[in-house]
Amino acid sequence: MQAIVFATANPNKLQEARKILGTGWQLSGLHDIGCTEEVPETTGSIRGNAIQKAEYVRDRYGVDCFAEDTGLEIAALGGEPGVYSARYAGPGAVAADNIALVLKKMAEHQDRSAQFRTVIALMLGNQCYTFEGILPGKILYAPQGTGGFGYDPIFQPEGYTDSFGILSPDIKNAISHRALALQSFAAFMRTQTQ
Ligand code: IMP
Repeated sequence: MQAIVFATANPNKLQEARKILGTGWQLSGLHDIGCTEEVPETTGSIRGNAIQKAEYVRDRYGVDCFAEDTGLEIAALGGEPGVYSARYAGPGAVAADNIALVLKKMAEHQDRSAQFRTVIALMLGNQCYTFEGILPGKILYAPQGTGGFGYDPIFQPEGYTDSFGILSPDIKNAISHRALALQSFAAFMRTQTQ
């Protein structure tokens, strides 16, 4: 059994990671190690934020851990919301606010192409390793379905005709940006324990 801390307070992400990694892993979240403060994400890049979060938790709590940061990158918006995905519509914004702003900014754009990018930063002792997962797709004209979280209802992955708001969690967990990054992370971890 591999025991490691996933430095996230987001229960959706923890649940997805548990499903993607499957049995053989014991994942603890930030609440499980008593970390209830907001972990800083101030570097201005997805990769930088993932590293910053993992380093913060390793330094303060003395545990090997991994953190991830994800952003939705929309070509017609020059890569926005990107690293600002969580609070695109301003401080305190919830998913519905962020979705509304994206749809407003995209109203005139024919090019709907977008991608989710996830970067995982792993701290093992003093070493830091990063893993990336990218999932291409497109932005719909209106939310579709109520499943998933965040921007899922307006994102349709390439090769599918439904949004992540409609596709089952099993499909999302098989193909998602987070799944791709977690698979690279898991493959690396296997090399460390052999
Ligand atoms: P963070 O990685 O927690 O900072 O997330 C950035 C933003 O992207 C948040 O608004 C999340 O809701 C959103 N987000 C992260 N992962 C996903 C996903 O898998 N689907 C849809 N939105 C996501």
